Amino acid sequence: KQDDDQLIIDAGQKQFGATTCSSCGMVYSAENPEDNFQHNQFHQRFIDSIKYVGWKKERVVAEFWDGKILLVMPDDPKYAIKKADDVRHVADSELGFQQVTLSRPTQAKTYLFINTERMVVGCLVVEPIRQAYRVLEQAEQHKDMTKDDFMERHRAWCCSTVPEQALCGISRVWVFSLARRQGIATRMLDTVRSTFMYGSHLTKEEIAFSDPTPDGKLFATKYSNT
Ligand code: ACO
Repeated sequence: KQDDDQLIIDAGQKQFGATTCSSCGMVYSAENPEDNFQHNQFHQRFIDSIKYVGWKKERVVAEFWDGKILLVMPDDPKYAIKKADDVRHVADSELGFQQVTLSRPTQAKTYLFINTERMVVGCLVVEPIRQAYRVLEQAEQHKDMTKDDFMERHRAWCCSTVPEQALCGISRVWVFSLARRQGIATRMLDTVRSTFMYGSHLTKEEIAFSDPTPDGKLFATKYSNT
């Protein structure tokens, strides 16, 4: 009979329990062969996807002590488009997005944050838009609301039905798990606002986030002060 309570024997081995890989960020159990196999598979693919080898022509739109932001435009050379696609796929699989192609690839711009170790640790895809619908404050759970009603309400964000003018839509924003809370998404968005439209600086009201995740909502709320 298999005992569900104990799956690993603590025989004093060096790595016991869950380990976080310091390069790819995957959490796995080093002494579990299946986990090890999954990690090895993921690790190499992930590192290849986010590795930045340097390009002959790169469009640097911002520089910082800990990295720089590159902008990739739809007409850029194939190697740049391929890197933007690879990183976007990493972000999409983490976000659980099924659709791997962009809705309007000819209009989308990709901002990549490259750190000093030549890894792409941030990716932000933007598209021009005309209007957006504000996410509404979630009401407190009503006394006579059943649990099912409550779950139904919280499955998706409630949006206003009144469109508001917006110019720049954030289709996706992703930061490598081990590089979060260092202001990378904030700096990518600040850079979008100053470079998205030639000659003008967008206000925080002119940018809108598409269907945010809980992480994305916390970040967007802080960023937009809403
Ligand atoms: N929990 C609470 N507050 C948060 C969080 C969080 N997980 N993330 C950001 N914030 C708030 C904080 O107030 C933070 O400031 P502080 O660190 O001084 O407290 C502020 O936002 C700025 O955060 P940044 O450091 O600029 O954000 P970061 O670089 O960590 O990136 C992001 C945020 C992109 C949401 C990251 O957590 C991520 O990639 N998550 C997984 C992918 C994801 O969910 N992306 C959003 C999808 S929605 C969309 O794409 C439209």
